Amino acid sequence: MEGPGWRHPPAGPPARTDARGPQAAGRSGGGPSTVHAGGRTSRRRLASSGMDRIQLRPPREHDGPTFLAAVAASRDLHASWVSPPVDVEGYMALLFRSRRRDHATYLAWRDDDLVGMVSLNDIVRSNLASASLGYYAFAPFAGRGWMRQALSGVIGRAFTAHDLHRVEANIQPDNVRSRALIEGLGFRREGYSPRLLRVRGEWRDHERWALLADEWP
Ligand SMILES: CC(C)(COP(=O)(O)OP(=O)(O)OC[C@H]1O[C@@H](n2cnc3c(N)ncnc32)[C@H](O)[C@@H]1OP(=O)(O)O)[C@@H](O)C(=O)NCCC(=O)NCCS
Repeated sequence: MEGPGWRHPPAGPPARTDARGPQAAGRSGGGPSTVHAGGRTSRRRLASSGMDRIQLRPPREHDGPTFLAAVAASRDLHASWVSPPVDVEGYMALLFRSRRRDHATYLAWRDDDLVGMVSLNDIVRSNLASASLGYYAFAPFAGRGWMRQALSGVIGRAFTAHDLHRVEANIQPDNVRSRALIEGLGFRREGYSPRLLRVRGEWRDHERWALLADEWP
């Protein structure tokens, strides 16, 4: 996986260190930070599964080979629910998108294991102050409660460091795991939108779930 693609990335915008203000830069830039659980039953889950060891940090160029290997190992898990980058070009696009003012991407690590990805997409400021969540676990780390921890950490940052008012999650109707995860975190189902999002080249129906800052613990 190592190669010139990793050593000589295409030109892109500079790393975001201050776009979200000093507080945001301090919390999510550079090094990893351990996150704490949110949601209705977080304490029980945290205590029962060792989730206090999940760390969130922005993607780095040298995470690319690990990320792409994790995606390749997770094809069945990701199925038709998400379309993560599958090659160097796609990873570099994720990397540069994560440095834009309207995106924030976090890789979730547990020690040296990359357990998942959570992103705040399409961050809109002004009077909306909202973003759309993207997330996926990596096999074999799914189903252990670690994505709940990762999402809790990112949602907490959305309402503090990113100063957002609303976070939404758009979920395909038969994505049982994703809906259980989001519902357990306290999101409300707001509605249903036919052909809302294009996933793997197809416009797919989605349920719209959302959480407001004043609904978050
Ligand atoms: C959705 C996804 C991120 C959940 O990750 P996960 O690692 O299973 O999540 P967690 O282990 O933190 O579990 C969180 C909750 O999900 C639900 N869940 C987990 N596995 C489940 C399963 N096999 N069936 C039903 N619900 C399940 C449970 O409600 C669980 O809460 P619990 O603590 O009460 O058991 C993961 O399944 C995934 O990556 N799916 C493919 C990508 C995807 O669908 N992304 C979301 C697009 S909207």
